Amino acid sequence: MRVLASAPAKIILFGEHSVVYGKPAIAAAIDLRTYVWAEFNDRGAIKIEAKDIRVPGLTVSFSEDEIYFESDYGKAAEVLSYVRQAIELVREEADANGKGITVSITSQIPVGAGLGSSAAVAVATIGAVSKLLGLELSNEEIGKLGHKVELLVQGASSGIDPTVSAIGGFIHYEKGNFEHLPFMELPIVVGYTGSSGSTKELVAMVRRTYEEMPEVIEPVLIAMGKIVEKAREVITSDLDDEIRFAQLGRLMNINHGLLDAIGVSTKKLSELVYAARVAGAIGAKITGAGGGGCMYALAPENQSEVATAITIAGGTPMITRISREGLRIEEVLS
Ligand code: MEV
Repeated sequence: MRVLASAPAKIILFGEHSVVYGKPAIAAAIDLRTYVWAEFNDRGAIKIEAKDIRVPGLTVSFSEDEIYFESDYGKAAEVLSYVRQAIELVREEADANGKGITVSITSQIPVGAGLGSSAAVAVATIGAVSKLLGLELSNEEIGKLGHKVELLVQGASSGIDPTVSAIGGFIHYEKGNFEHLPFMELPIVVGYTGSSGSTKELVAMVRRTYEEMPEVIEPVLIAMGKIVEKAREVITSDLDDEIRFAQLGRLMNINHGLLDAIGVSTKKLSELVYAARVAGAIGAKITGAGGGGCMYALAPENQSEVATAITIAGGTPMITRISREGLRIEEVLS
């Protein structure tokens, strides 16, 4: 038997980092996906083959006791640890420790770009392996297991990335609970800086600043939470799109300023944000953990001008759509 599962990338529209401190956030799945095939092997070992996971020149395979690198694997090692933990967790759930499982991964999601590639591989792996082992889990349960994997690998995590990857669509998330927001076509452009940030390190860096000066950082996190609640009010209102977009754009700019203030922006990220605004985007901000990775811009009138401005500023633009669909078990072949 061979199972194929796929899970989407995400963008955080509002509330990254503050969501780790129990504040709300809003995120959406987007139409870039990770594909994971799972099948049994006779070696009793976990074997992971990762090809074309958007790390230049990568071909990696490793099993329980052996690791082979065919080329510089860089950030991929972090992603592969999510896969390995995901398989181990599902084997425990299914009481199938010792069963040999091979998973093969391909992904359209750039690694370390703040688009949730680690969460998507964890969710797709849990989906494929749980199906292979005969566990009937809902997408919501798979999202929760994805959160456990993130906590194991990343140390701290709010769980928003695996939740939105498993569930799909547009969600409001707070302390492990999510609610679908009315679906809305958002005219956005995502801009990739070309460099990656480590979510684990960025979350730890914000934590250190918070512990050093809670009286300064706590009000910033509270303000981020208020931005999210205001954005939810705007999204769920029956105002015209023009007014809704204008208000969301202003909230994005404020949220970006606060993310910059807590130290997760970079020169390149800010350059892409400003290039997008100068080209007419009505809002632009970091999306995800920062430290490299991606920004996104809201550009109802001029997506292609904003995409060009991002290119001229040295980034890679992606005009992407919100994906209604989360985890999908694509095929079961016997
Ligand atoms: C990463 O996509 C979002 C962060 O808020 C981390 C998390 O929520 O686990 C930075």
